[in-house]
Amino acid sequence: MAVSVSGLTRNASLAVPRSPAKRRGDGGEEGGGMEALRRLGRRVKPFEQVGVLGFLAFTAAFFLFIFFFFSSNHGGMAWPDQTAAAAAGGDGGGGGEKGVWELGAEIGQSKGRGGAKDVWGLGVELSRNKGGGGGGGRGAGGEECDWFDGEWVWDESYPLYESRDCGFLDEGFRCSENGRSDLFYSKWRWQPARCDLPRFDAKKMLEKLRNRRLVFVGDSIGRNQWESLLCLLSMAVPDKSSIYEVNGNPITKHKGFLVFKFRDYNCTVEYYRAPFLVLQSRPPARAPARVKTTLKLDILDWMSTRWKDADVLIFNTGHWWNYEKTIRGGCYFQEGNEVKMKMSAYTAYQRAIKTLFHWIDREVNRSRTQVIFRTYAPVHFRGGDWKTGGSCHLEKFPVLGSSQISLKEWAHLLKPFRNVSLENSAETRVLEFDVLNVTQMTARRRDGHLSIFYFGRSGPAPLHRQDCSHWCLPGVPDAWNELLYALFIRRESMIDQNATALGNTRVKLA
Ligand SMILES: *[C@@H]1O[C@H](CO)[C@@H](O)[C@H](O)[C@H]1NC(C)=O
Ligand SMILES: *[C@@H]1O[C@H](CO)[C@@H](O)[C@H](O)[C@H]1NC(C)=O
Ligand SMILES: *[C@@H]1O[C@H](CO)[C@@H](O)[C@H](O)[C@H]1NC(C)=O
Ligand SMILES: *[C@@H]1O[C@H](CO)[C@@H](O)[C@H](O)[C@H]1NC(C)=O
Ligand SMILES: *[C@@H]1O[C@H](CO)[C@@H](O)[C@H](O)[C@H]1NC(C)=O
Repeated sequence: MAVSVSGLTRNASLAVPRSPAKRRGDGGEEGGGMEALRRLGRRVKPFEQVGVLGFLAFTAAFFLFIFFFFSSNHGGMAWPDQTAAAAAGGDGGGGGEKGVWELGAEIGQSKGRGGAKDVWGLGVELSRNKGGGGGGGRGAGGEECDWFDGEWVWDESYPLYESRDCGFLDEGFRCSENGRSDLFYSKWRWQPARCDLPRFDAKKMLEKLRNRRLVFVGDSIGRNQWESLLCLLSMAVPDKSSIYEVNGNPITKHKGFLVFKFRDYNCTVEYYRAPFLVLQSRPPARAPARVKTTLKLDILDWMSTRWKDADVLIFNTGHWWNYEKTIRGGCYFQEGNEVKMKMSAYTAYQRAIKTLFHWIDREVNRSRTQVIFRTYAPVHFRGGDWKTGGSCHLEKFPVLGSSQISLKEWAHLLKPFRNVSLENSAETRVLEFDVLNVTQMTARRRDGHLSIFYFGRSGPAPLHRQDCSHWCLPGVPDAWNELLYALFIRRESMIDQNATALGNTRVKLA
C-alpha cells in the first residue's frame, strides 16, 4: 500500500504586501563596515523618490564604492572576516566579494529595517482586517506568497534574544558564550521574496497557546529548534521562574522528553526525542544475530499517544536515516514480523513517512491539532564528515542572493513532501498539513553551525571534531520558528475568519 504522494503546496499566505513606504526608522547601533555600507544606503535614500533615475544613480554610486573597496583592498572597512570568508567560500559561490555586493544591494533596498519591525506585525493585522471586513474568506487584496522562497538579509535588530538571557539552552548551543567571537551569524533575517513575515510576537503566541500544548517530535535538530522557541517565547515572560520543566528535569541531552510549562499561560512547549519517528525496539526472536534492534516501520514510536492530542504538532526527521546510523550499528528494518535484511535506509525512510501520514490521518483530530512537518536541515561539513575532520569553522557568511541552491543532495528526503499538482486526486483521500519548508533557506546557512564552539566554557573543541549539523543559538533555528509562528498565526486567523482551508501540503493516501 503505497502512499502515492502528491503535494499541492500553495505555500500560500495572506500576504503582507511589501510596502517601502511603511519602512521607517533606523537600525540603531551599528559597527564597522556595516555602518559604512548603511550610511551609504541612508545617504542615498532621497533618490528613492525620484524613482528609476534615483535607482540608477544609486547603482552607479554603489559600483564606484565596490570598486574603491576592492581596488584599495585595505582593512579600513573593519570587516575582519572578509578574507577568511573569501578563502572558505567556494561551494555555490559565496566568497567575500559576493557577500559585499549582495549585502550592499540589500541595504540599498531595505532602508532601516530595525525600526520597521512593528509595521510587519501590523501588516498581518491589516490583511486580516481586510479579510474580515470583506465579509469573510481571504482578503481580497491578499496575494499569495511563498514564505520559503526568499533570501537572508542583514538586520541590525537581530538576534531576537541573547543566549545569556535564556536559561533554556543546552550549553552546547551557546556559541558566543563558548568562544565564538564573530556574531554575524546571528544577524541575518529571513526575508521572503514577495511579502514580509509577521513579526514574531511572543506574547501574542503565548496568548494563543493558552491552555494548549505545542509539541516537537524528532531528532536533536528538532531539539535545537525547540530550545530556540523556548527562548523566543520566554522573552515575553518577566518572571522566568514561572517557566519550568513539569517533572523537574534539567535541560540535558539524555531525556526522552521534556515538557516546559509557561505557568501564567497554562501552556506547555514539549520535546519528544524520536529521531526515526517510528518505534525502535528488540528484534523478533529468530532474527539473525547481527540484528541488534529493529525499526518497526509500520508503528509509530510508543510515545505517540502523547503527541496526538497536542494543539500544535511539529515533526522532523531525516538525519538518522542513513546506513551509518542504522544497519552499521545492527539496527535493521522490520515490517510486520519480518526483518527486512536487504532494505535500504532510504526505502525505510519512505515507509516510515508513510506510516506517519497514516497515523496523522487516523489518530489526530485535525480540527483541533495543527500538524506541521519541518523539512530536512542540511549539514555543512567540508572536507569530510563529523568523524573524519570535516569542518565549517571558517564559514562566516551565508550564501546570499535569491538564486536557488540545488536541493538534489536531499531530494530523497524531500520526496514525500514534494510539490506535485493534485490533478486526478479527486477520488482519493487527501491529507493536508503544513510544511515548514526550511531546506532551501537552511542550505544557505553554512555559517550558522556550532563548528568548534559546543564545548562549554572549557574552550573550543579540536578542529578535527566539528559539529556542522547543529546550530548556534540564537541563530538559524530562530528563523525556522519565525516561520513556524507565521504558519501558526495564519491558521489561527483562518479559524477566526471561519475559513476552511487549513492545510498547505496535501498528500494522497492510498
Ligand atoms: C507548488 O504548486 C503550486 C500549485 O500547483 C504552484 O502554484 C507553486 O508555484 C508550486 N511551488 C513551487 C515552489 O514549486
Ligand atoms: C490547562 O491546560 C490543560 C491543557 O493543556 C487543560 O486540560 C487544563 O484544563 C488547563 N487548566 C486550566 C486551569 O485552565
Ligand atoms: C475534534 O476537535 C474539535 C475541536 O476541538 C472538537 O469539537 C471535536 O469534538 C473533536 N472531535 C473528536 C472526534 O474528538
Ligand atoms: C520547498 O521549497 C523549495 C524551494 O523554494 C521548493 O522547490 C519546494 O517545492 C518546496 N516544497 C514544498 C513541499 O513546499
Ligand atoms: C463557521 O461558520 C458556520 C456556518 O456559517 C457556523 O455554523 C460555524 O459555527 C462557524 N464556526 C466558527 C468557528 O465560527
